[in-house]
Amino acid sequence: MTLLQVQNLVVEFPHRRGLLRALDDVSFEIAPGEILGVVGESGAGKSLTGASIIGLLEPPGRIASGEIRLDGQRIDQLDHETMRHIRGRKIGAIFQDPLTSLNPLYTIGRQLIETIRTHLPVGESEARKRAIGLLQDTGIPAAEQRIDHFPHQFSGGMRQRVVIALALAAEPKLIVADEPTTALDVSIQAQIIQLLKRICKERGAAVMLITHDMGVIAESCDRVAVMYAGRVAEIGPVHEVIHQPAHPYTAGLMASIPDMEMDRERLNQIDGTMPRLNAIPTGCAYNPRCPRAFDRCRVERPDLLHAGATRAACWLHDPRDAHLDTRAKGMAA
Ligand SMILES: Nc1ncnc2c1ncn2[C@@H]1O[C@H](COP(=O)(O)OP(=O)(O)OP(=O)(O)O)[C@@H](O)[C@H]1O
Ligand code: SF4
Ligand SMILES: [Mg+2]
Repeated sequence: MTLLQVQNLVVEFPHRRGLLRALDDVSFEIAPGEILGVVGESGAGKSLTGASIIGLLEPPGRIASGEIRLDGQRIDQLDHETMRHIRGRKIGAIFQDPLTSLNPLYTIGRQLIETIRTHLPVGESEARKRAIGLLQDTGIPAAEQRIDHFPHQFSGGMRQRVVIALALAAEPKLIVADEPTTALDVSIQAQIIQLLKRICKERGAAVMLITHDMGVIAESCDRVAVMYAGRVAEIGPVHEVIHQPAHPYTAGLMASIPDMEMDRERLNQIDGTMPRLNAIPTGCAYNPRCPRAFDRCRVERPDLLHAGATRAACWLHDPRDAHLDTRAKGMAA
């Protein structure tokens, strides 16, 4: 069963000379109640993928082709107003900076109650009761009093809890969270992620969790998609992607984390850099950095191929190239 289906998504930006393709044929699915982590270096296309799904892609960026379906319904071609409604009711959004999601002029109670009443058939007092319940669930102490406070009266961590409550207020089936803890103090990041995980699992909401942090992925996700240069390089169950990466880029990412439990540094320790959008090499975009590259990689671009328990966009997993040792599993970076 599928809740969210992203199929062959292409996002382009107009550029001095033609078009820049920022997302190139991105496909993945999220099942109900599942947490999908999305990881990859800065500029890989993680946020653009999230923004496309929630209908907040900023012009002149646009979806050039592909489809996004939620519960079977296409949501990539809806008008602004319809999409705004879906965004509250069916998809909740959590961004890096909690202040972008909260209106500084209104109490958090007013914002929660308004969201609940816009989307659910409940009266004012019932909505207030639910709002207090949400704040309690997200660990806001003295929720009955705090509900009447303004956003600036909360600390960063508490504000992000409020944002999570707000994202869940209309009981959406999907939460898109883009680096939800990056702006927070390191000491409370793990708490917020655990909260997000617990509350979404309890409510059966699926989550697309965008992060740089492999530790977060390892602790909280069911599956993970690794993005590189606007494409999905590998996708599969989190344990397999981490411990038996099938794509050389994933292997490099994992090798760059000396100790998953301790190291929460950004993932940028593979030699070289990700290509800019106007200089993506032909063939496999990773080929200039790839220790396993061979002739075909410089000419033909691989789509996702079955690779054990995961799928990887890498020719090493094409049965036609079996003689090249299709088992890239466990390879050194
Ligand atoms: N308005 C824009 N015009 C042109 N290019 C853009 C625009 N917005 C994003 N891009 C490009 O699209 C690519 C993907 O950007 P995106 O923000 O999705 O990356 P990301 O994976 O979220 O990175 P980060 O980890 O830094 O948040 C980048 O190369 C970026 O430069
Ligand atoms: S397709 Fe070739 S260059 Fe790309 S990751 Fe696989 S081996 Fe490396
Ligand atoms: Mg981003």
